[in-house]
Amino acid sequence: MLYRIVTYGCQMNVHESEKIAGLLEGMGAAAAKDGERADIVVFNTCCIRDTAERRALGNIGVIKGEKRKDPSLIIAVCGCMTQQEGAAETIKERYPYVDIVLGTRNIFRLPEEIKRVQDARAAMKKRSDKRYRAFDTEYAEDYLALDEATPVTRTSFPNAWVNIIYGCNNFCTYCIVPYVRGRELSRPMPAVLDEVKRVVDEGYKEITLLGQNVNSYGHDLSGGESFEALLRAIDRIDGKFRVRFMTSHPKDLTDGVIAAMAESDKICSNIHLPVQSGSDKVLRDMNRRYTRDRYFSLIEKLRAAMPDIGITTDVMVGFPTETEDDFADTMDLVRRVRFSNAFTFIYSPRKGTPAASMTQIPYAVKRRRIGELIKLQNSVTKELSEDYVGGVYEVLAEDVSPKHEGMLCGRTESGRLVTFPGAPERIGEFVKVRINEARSASLTGTTED
Ligand code: SAH
Ligand code: SF4
Ligand code: F3S
Repeated sequence: MLYRIVTYGCQMNVHESEKIAGLLEGMGAAAAKDGERADIVVFNTCCIRDTAERRALGNIGVIKGEKRKDPSLIIAVCGCMTQQEGAAETIKERYPYVDIVLGTRNIFRLPEEIKRVQDARAAMKKRSDKRYRAFDTEYAEDYLALDEATPVTRTSFPNAWVNIIYGCNNFCTYCIVPYVRGRELSRPMPAVLDEVKRVVDEGYKEITLLGQNVNSYGHDLSGGESFEALLRAIDRIDGKFRVRFMTSHPKDLTDGVIAAMAESDKICSNIHLPVQSGSDKVLRDMNRRYTRDRYFSLIEKLRAAMPDIGITTDVMVGFPTETEDDFADTMDLVRRVRFSNAFTFIYSPRKGTPAASMTQIPYAVKRRRIGELIKLQNSVTKELSEDYVGGVYEVLAEDVSPKHEGMLCGRTESGRLVTFPGAPERIGEFVKVRINEARSASLTGTTED
């Protein structure tokens, strides 16, 4: 039995696909190679923006042809899209060839549902006999315990993803995540520490802690756990490895977390701190619960504690209440902070969220604004990249370069992407690289050892 998993969305989903792979391999299935026919295809979907949703639906549509040629194919859809109001029913009606739909908190049911689909097919005497289809997006009550028991097939060596908190309680007015991922649930600290120790023992060199808002880690636990305490405990684990985390919400980033980052050996001087907007009015309308001044003061504290820190962000343009003046505030903030990189998005109305029922801004205006923003950030990124030229940095060799033969790529502690010569055997090694050339977002260098 061969499987193929098609993943959309954030790192959380990338890691969840590793759990889906673990579950399928637990049933004796193996990953199909590129171009090879699969028996099971799983779509792990995202619905953060309309584009993400359309891409997934488009590909679920395309597989219809494959299924027609090969009726034994099993098709499953899971992930955030399935958890939207009415989505499971829509998939059931509009995509009759989809066999299984599972949600974001019951994925461990996949093997039993596959088994049922197979058993029902084996028992069918005629093609017109009723087939078995599964549509279940209920959140499992004992989710944490069931998740703890889910096997993981890791696919991102030398990086290992480790979940620390699920769900989100913040309800930013534009965002669908709290509706599709449920309320915050922190994993117990011993479980997280055990997993980190295990992957370090297995040879992983970079651990990325995952959560929609890692700074709320522990709020729902009763033993005084906090993200700061977790970082300090992970830093005490033996071995040579790096730790990154995402995502941090500015409203909950404490002085303690900044101190833990600065005082640790293993926690990278690197943070992804989404700002979304530089306008206090828009931040208020988004329910972000911080001001631009508070954001500037966090940036100052981070840079005072870690002068070489790499700071990246998410910025959104075209939120319904964003005027030209508000957008100018965003441009001003981006110009002043000097992010090493920014992920920029056009606001996309999400059904059921408060911002979706406000009066929307014309698309042409949003397009112009994002164009200006990208141009500004590109020039900042390029300038900051030039500061690296001539320096020697420790880089973790992470992968072969997708563009240049004989080259590897990896990142500095601050999170900057570096391309350098090396054989694939060196993936997973820490390498000293002298930077010779800076393009906009990527640096090129030569190895010193
Ligand atoms: N939990 C993270 C964000 C997860 S979503 C945080 O709070 O920072 C990743 C990014 O997608 C967000 O930071 C935001 O910039 C963007 N995003 C979320 N909802 C969006 C929407 N409706 N339209 C456009 N971009 C959106
Ligand atoms: Fe969405 Fe806000 Fe939660 Fe991030 S913090 S997932 S943007 S609601
Ligand atoms: Fe998308 Fe769900 Fe992540 S909506 S961005 S896959 S949490």
